[in-house]
Amino acid sequence: MSEKVIHPEEVRSYVRQRYGQIARDFEGASASCCGPSDCCGNTSSNVTFADTMYETPDVAELPFEVTGLSLGCGDPVTLAALQPGQTALDLGSGGGIDCFLAAKQVGPTGHVIGVDMTADMIEKARANARKVGIENVEFRLGEIEHLPVADESVDVIISNCVINLSPDKPQVFREAYRALRPGGRLAVSDIVTRIELPSQIKQDLGSWAACVAGAWVDKDYVAAIEAAGFVDVTIEEKVVDDAIIEDAVAQFELEINPAAARSIGYSARVTARKPG
Ligand SMILES: C[S@@+](CC[C@H](N)C(=O)[O-])C[C@H]1O[C@@H](n2cnc3c(N)ncnc32)[C@H](O)[C@@H]1O
Repeated sequence: MSEKVIHPEEVRSYVRQRYGQIARDFEGASASCCGPSDCCGNTSSNVTFADTMYETPDVAELPFEVTGLSLGCGDPVTLAALQPGQTALDLGSGGGIDCFLAAKQVGPTGHVIGVDMTADMIEKARANARKVGIENVEFRLGEIEHLPVADESVDVIISNCVINLSPDKPQVFREAYRALRPGGRLAVSDIVTRIELPSQIKQDLGSWAACVAGAWVDKDYVAAIEAAGFVDVTIEEKVVDDAIIEDAVAQFELEINPAAARSIGYSARVTARKPG
């Protein structure tokens, strides 16, 4: 019996539709990819996912319209160690949380560009920028496999729980390499696995949107970054609370405890550098 293989466009279309729905449904209700009904799960109290996931105290200054729509799995802005005056690019910017945190760090002489393929997310992010009153941020509609930015125009690329959603990760890393200036850096939070996932999961669109099915084995993820030309690639596990994992697995009606989930995959902090 031949196995059904999902076409990349089917994945992209499903993911776009799913995150469009999340953006449209979000009215300031608690959300978290660790989200309203996606990637990592929802915290059951008034504490937003962002409150538990970010190391920077700057997150406390952002309104709930921003932190409540935080759908990531880490804190790439802290990982990026941005400097005033830099240009940063966020792959899959969602409601804009990492762009706003980055904008504060690069300051008025710096610039931040968020790219997302979901029009409703771009709309939310632009509305959030107006609410926050931040002017050194812009949001562009586009796919991270075809970045709407010029060659060698960016100092640092960040991304939070997005690359796992791409059906063509090697192309994402090639595009990131093209967009970065020589010596530019990549700082990514993403879900990766320790083992190959069963093909039944890899063919399930709901699991794709949940940041599960598209997650790559960590060593393959690193190899794809290196194949794009990056050097000094590092990957390490971010320790995530049991409560967050429990919320995530409950959401997908999976019967798996946090220890078992950790044995399959993890939230990774990934860094790399384009040779100077
Ligand atoms: C899990 S959410 C993360 C959003 C944001 N980074 C955050 O931390 O809140 C994934 C986002 O990536 C976007 N996305 C997924 N695949 C994409 C692609 N191939 N190109 C551009 N955006 C994509 C989705 O529209 C969604 O807004």
